[in-house]
Amino acid sequence: MSTRSRCPRQLDGRRMASVHKFTLLVMLLAYWSTLSISTEDDLLHCESLVKGWATSSHNGVEGDKHTLRDLLFFLHVPRTGGRTYFHCFLRKLYTSEQECPRSYDKLRFDPTNPNCRLMVTHDDYSITSKLPKESTSVVTILRNPVDRVFSTYEFSVEVAARFLVHPNLTSATRMAARLRPKSKSVGVSTLDIWPWKYLVPWMREDLFARREARELGRVTEIKDVSNSYNMKDMVMPLHEFINDPIAHEIIHNGATFQVAGLTNNSCLDESHEVRYCVRKHPELGQYVVDVAKKRLDNMLYVGLTEEHKESATMFANMVGVQVLSLLEALSSRIEQAANNTTESSSQFRDSKPRSSNQLQSSIQDKKPSEVPSTNVGTSDENTTVVQLMEAYEVCISSLRKSQSSRRTTSLKRIAPANFSKEARLKVPNIVLQQILSLNSLDVQLYMHAQGIFAQQQKHLAQKSMKMEMQKKTLRNSLGRELDFTGWHGICWTPWDIK
Ligand SMILES: *[C@@H]1O[C@H](CO)[C@@H](O)[C@H](O)[C@H]1NC(C)=O
Ligand SMILES: *[C@@H]1O[C@H](CO)[C@@H](O)[C@H](O)[C@H]1NC(C)=O
Ligand SMILES: *[C@@H]1O[C@H](CO)[C@@H](O)[C@H](O)[C@H]1NC(C)=O
Ligand SMILES: *[C@@H]1O[C@H](CO)[C@@H](O)[C@H](O)[C@H]1NC(C)=O
Ligand SMILES: *[C@@H]1O[C@H](CO)[C@@H](O)[C@H](O)[C@H]1NC(C)=O
Ligand SMILES: *[C@@H]1O[C@H](CO)[C@@H](O)[C@H](O)[C@H]1NC(C)=O
Repeated sequence: MSTRSRCPRQLDGRRMASVHKFTLLVMLLAYWSTLSISTEDDLLHCESLVKGWATSSHNGVEGDKHTLRDLLFFLHVPRTGGRTYFHCFLRKLYTSEQECPRSYDKLRFDPTNPNCRLMVTHDDYSITSKLPKESTSVVTILRNPVDRVFSTYEFSVEVAARFLVHPNLTSATRMAARLRPKSKSVGVSTLDIWPWKYLVPWMREDLFARREARELGRVTEIKDVSNSYNMKDMVMPLHEFINDPIAHEIIHNGATFQVAGLTNNSCLDESHEVRYCVRKHPELGQYVVDVAKKRLDNMLYVGLTEEHKESATMFANMVGVQVLSLLEALSSRIEQAANNTTESSSQFRDSKPRSSNQLQSSIQDKKPSEVPSTNVGTSDENTTVVQLMEAYEVCISSLRKSQSSRRTTSLKRIAPANFSKEARLKVPNIVLQQILSLNSLDVQLYMHAQGIFAQQQKHLAQKSMKMEMQKKTLRNSLGRELDFTGWHGICWTPWDIK
């Protein structure tokens, strides 16, 4: 790549000298042929590299994927709503001792607690190379790629805008550094976590630059206030955001790269070269999507952000119930730990009110002792699911309230720009089309996930039918929580992907 980019400049230099026309022609021809050969070489090299990677990535683990294994790895693709599952299901099911250290940390998995059973992180799939593969179950949630890009943009702006309380970038950056938790056990700052550790500082710098321009009077009035996603006097417009090299590096096709284990944050050494090859030769993207699809196929659970209620109920059914019965197997130990954790574990977690730039909002953590763990068994699964869902609903509504008030407060700093569902409709089609084409691998993967989701529904329906027959009762054993007859397929709101 470097030779290629240097070539044209050398040539220009020689052209300046009055070389004989013939010599120049010969040189040009030589240059062109080298160029085409090196491009071809590069493609060949890339193809064999990507194919090799794909082959070595297909070796899955045999066994029943529906059965929860000892370690649950929640592969949290940013902006898919995974946080609510983490707070409102998983943290209620697992004790802090069972949570692997450094979940969400920017650093790689730290195996200091080999007995941990829950790992939730934005790290990509490559981290499974550090986990006991045969005893790990993976779950994830995917989202319509267009919405995910919008949400990534909005969240970057939201978090960055919080710093606008500062008079200048220097003082904002200094404060950000000071706010970082000193002790690793006290929660994790958004700014330490991939991909936000890149996106937020980038956006923050940009917001301050725009504000400075306004203050210096270069902007006398904000002219067009009709489209919040294109208000360059206040905030980096969306179309600029999606075309920036940083977005290419870490946002576009981000779900596919994360499931494939090829993000910019990967543990796999060859990942950077593979990713580079795929970006340079888009035709090689198919290998990556195929690996990602296979991985999804082997996951214990795949949720969809858009189908929130159904996804959550399914999670309670497919994962929550199993977590409880798995833990039940160690009941006395767990119960004891639960007795203890009710008080002592809170120091482990960030129970103190969190400062404004931290990932988690403070919600009251309920410990396993508060979740029904005594009556788990196939016949009582219904009760368990219902109770899990009740706890979830309470938790999520308080989580949402605090998230939305933080968002409102933060976005006030960039008014009149404001982000909302209605405002999104002002974004021209051409921008949406561009997002789609920049995320074509994610579009494919999302469609595949929709298929898996439908399968999971079928699987649960069959399971519930079996239970019904066993009980010889005509009532739907899973009740209205999983009303398959009312299923209307997947909606793409507000845009359709065709
Ligand atoms: C930034 O703000 C701080 C705090 O008000 C001030 O001390 C500092 O001089 C400012 N720096 C610049 C470069 O304006
Ligand atoms: C990941 O991407 C960011 C943003 O473009 C960049 O600063 C960083 O160096 C990249 N990391 C790697 C390992 O390529
Ligand atoms: C846990 O605590 C409760 C009351 O605080 C007590 O009744 C129970 O025996 C304890 N369980 C264990 C296993 O220590
Ligand atoms: C519970 O706490 C007591 C005293 O703090 C401690 O001795 C005991 O080992 C703890 N038990 C568990 C299972 O953590
Ligand atoms: C931005 O939009 C949200 C949702 O539509 C609204 O609640 C909020 O008040 C708006 N903020 C401003 C500053 O207009
Ligand atoms: C399952 O839960 C639903 C909702 O609470 C309830 O209506 C239904 O009767 C329950 N079914 C069984 C078999 O217990």
